[in-house]
Amino acid sequence: MRKQIAAANWKMNLSLAQAETLLNELVDSSPTLGAHQEAIFAVPAIYIPLALAKLANKANVFVAAQNCHQKEAGAYTGEVSASMLQSMGVKHIIVGHSERREYFTESDALLAEKVNAILAIHSTPIFCCGEPLAIREAETQNAFVEAQLKNSLFHLSAEDIIKVVIAYEPIWAIGTGKTASSAQAQDIHAYIRSCFASKYGEVVANEISILYGGSVKASNAKEIFSQPDVDGGLVGGASLVATEFTAIINALS
Ligand code: PGA
Repeated sequence: MRKQIAAANWKMNLSLAQAETLLNELVDSSPTLGAHQEAIFAVPAIYIPLALAKLANKANVFVAAQNCHQKEAGAYTGEVSASMLQSMGVKHIIVGHSERREYFTESDALLAEKVNAILAIHSTPIFCCGEPLAIREAETQNAFVEAQLKNSLFHLSAEDIIKVVIAYEPIWAIGTGKTASSAQAQDIHAYIRSCFASKYGEVVANEISILYGGSVKASNAKEIFSQPDVDGGLVGGASLVATEFTAIINALS
């Protein structure tokens, strides 16, 4: 049975004191997680030790990084490698968020290298894909997302692809308050799964968790997560409010 995941993406938000308060509130809220469910907190890299300490001993709760460098070590001032993160106890790393693709010009080829680096140290890439508004308006989102998957993931073996979590995030829905309808989410999630099925077979495709991201909130999470090919969410703004994110975790089916 594939995992149902509620993943928080704090992005570049919160002071240390605010991060500590939010983590305390999250710990106190004790959301219920089933055996096949996970809550993942992608905090700013500098707060990883704090989050690890606060969330230690919580079953099925993990601290993630929002990015890593593709190389293992070396003269890359200001960067953090996947193996450094792993050495701290981080097991999940977001790769290819649309903000990194856009503002840091990360290409599909670079993201393939990052995915390789993360899998090489037995960690989990949370691989983001998703189309801009113009592509959605032209109704070519399926081909656009398929190309992102092919270019960055399809070199992987079946054994490795099931270690990757996919986050489909339409760019027009990120931070805009405009969510894809549950039918739109289901359609493209089913398409993404069919791409994996064509390449790796149905059994493998059915093992891959595909999260939806883009203005997920407590009020819409249950409806979106109830779709058969939506296995949870990657949540930005609403993950900065403990009551909101706890409700989103509790909306996992
Ligand atoms: P949002 O962000 O929930 O604020 O739309 C989602 C994301 O960018 O991961």
